[in-house]
Amino acid sequence: MADPLWTLGEVVSATDGRCEGDPAAPIAGFSIDSRAIEPGEGFIAIRGPNRDGHDFVPKALEADAAAPWSRRRFRRTLQSRRATPMHQPSSTRRVWSGCATRSMRSTISAGRAATAPTMAVVIAVTGSAGKTGTKEALRVALQPSGSVHASAKSFNNHWGVPLTLANMPRDIDYGVFEVGMNHAGEIAALTRLVRPHIAIVTTVAPVHLGFFASVEEIADAKAEIFEGLVPGGSAVINRDNPHFERLAAVARSEGAEVVSFGEHEQSKVRVMHCDLGPDGSTVTSDILGETLTYRVGAPGRHVVQNTLGVLAAVKLAGADLKAAADALGALQPPAGRGQRFVIATERGPVCIVDESYNANPASMRAALATLGLTPRSEYKRRVAVLGDMLELGTEGPRLHKELAEAVDAAGIDVVFASGTDMASLFEAVPKERRGAYAKTSEELAPVLLSSVQPGDIVMVKGSLGSRMAPLVEGLKREFEYR
Ligand SMILES: Nc1ncnc2c1ncn2[C@@H]1O[C@H](COP(=O)(O)OP(=O)(O)OP(=O)(O)O)[C@@H](O)[C@H]1O
Ligand SMILES: [Mg+2]
Repeated sequence: MADPLWTLGEVVSATDGRCEGDPAAPIAGFSIDSRAIEPGEGFIAIRGPNRDGHDFVPKALEADAAAPWSRRRFRRTLQSRRATPMHQPSSTRRVWSGCATRSMRSTISAGRAATAPTMAVVIAVTGSAGKTGTKEALRVALQPSGSVHASAKSFNNHWGVPLTLANMPRDIDYGVFEVGMNHAGEIAALTRLVRPHIAIVTTVAPVHLGFFASVEEIADAKAEIFEGLVPGGSAVINRDNPHFERLAAVARSEGAEVVSFGEHEQSKVRVMHCDLGPDGSTVTSDILGETLTYRVGAPGRHVVQNTLGVLAAVKLAGADLKAAADALGALQPPAGRGQRFVIATERGPVCIVDESYNANPASMRAALATLGLTPRSEYKRRVAVLGDMLELGTEGPRLHKELAEAVDAAGIDVVFASGTDMASLFEAVPKERRGAYAKTSEELAPVLLSSVQPGDIVMVKGSLGSRMAPLVEGLKREFEYR
């Protein structure tokens, strides 16, 4: 039998916790979701903004999970009416320690120290946009060369990164970690856990400006990723970003090799030629001296940009570059980040582009430009449905209004807008391009649904909190997407 990922004893000693059960009992992995937990996995109770994972401890125990959780909570849970004998576990693999995330961090640190000599090539990805897209592209690109363990979803924060590390099999070939932040200092702590061989910065843009005084401060916070690089590690940085030099200076001061990528002539990984199509792109690039022509299965200049970072990392990792480039042909936009739904109707097709997962000025521009790649012969009308980009602080209205230029450059025919800040953009587009404006996406729905017609391509985008996803669902229902 293969070695277990963890034993109960290892978890206990690493977390300085206490336990019930056989220290040799295997723990197959960790989960934060009591609905998805497998028997024998560790349940980690995370306190989130809306739900408290501690409330689900009894449910996890029903599923025969091992559970690190806070001692105080444990007692309270047992005393509560929910912890009736019916909820008692069938085995007693239970760990508890003061704080689930702290214990997870110390656990994985200990685990890394013990397994370091046989560790995978580890790649960390950060940036203001494109972390998940790049992480998923790395998964696709590295798979032909070996086994890959990558972050689930956007698990990139103080619990998501430790969770990904804790679940990394010991004999894996490549580990790919998404690393994110809202505040300075967060990435520094996470990258020291991950200890990447290669760190990628996709881009730096005004995101979370509510928490930072300037974009330069955001660049500095992203540059923290280099602090965790192993000695001799590589910093893969977007050369086209105005903050490149700032990031590169930090990387060099950490002793890293700087590998730049982009369209910039001096990039070490450089686009030589690129055909941007509505369904994907064909790219010829110089990847650290090796010329490659490849197809990218998802559309947009920004996706091409991300693939340069991906192929740089593939080459630096010693993986098969040609196989990686070939694999990128199968790339699909992740859910909510450009996923397309084409619906055939009697009067022609409608295309809905779901960008409802999130938005900031950089990704809005990228999505608008991608919508602009649609040939008129395919869809007559380009419709943009835009919700507020959140967390931009006092700069919000200005950053929304400035999108008018991108709307124009992409040849968008009609703009629908919702949210307080999007009013600034709606006012800034020419009258003939104004569809409708409403304060909320709910209020926008009826007029949007009655305006969209066959022959339209409709891109829906906004921050998650702007609730644009229901508009995507409404459009799908309206045109009977099955
Ligand atoms: N290099 C890029 N520049 C600008 N926009 C990009 C880039 N790469 C991806 N995007 C766009 O940014 C949006 C978010 O993409 P993605 O989810 O990959 O980013 P993320 O950094 O993981 O976001 P989050 O911080 O929410 O985890 C999508 O609309 C995507 O198309
Ligand atoms: Mg993400």
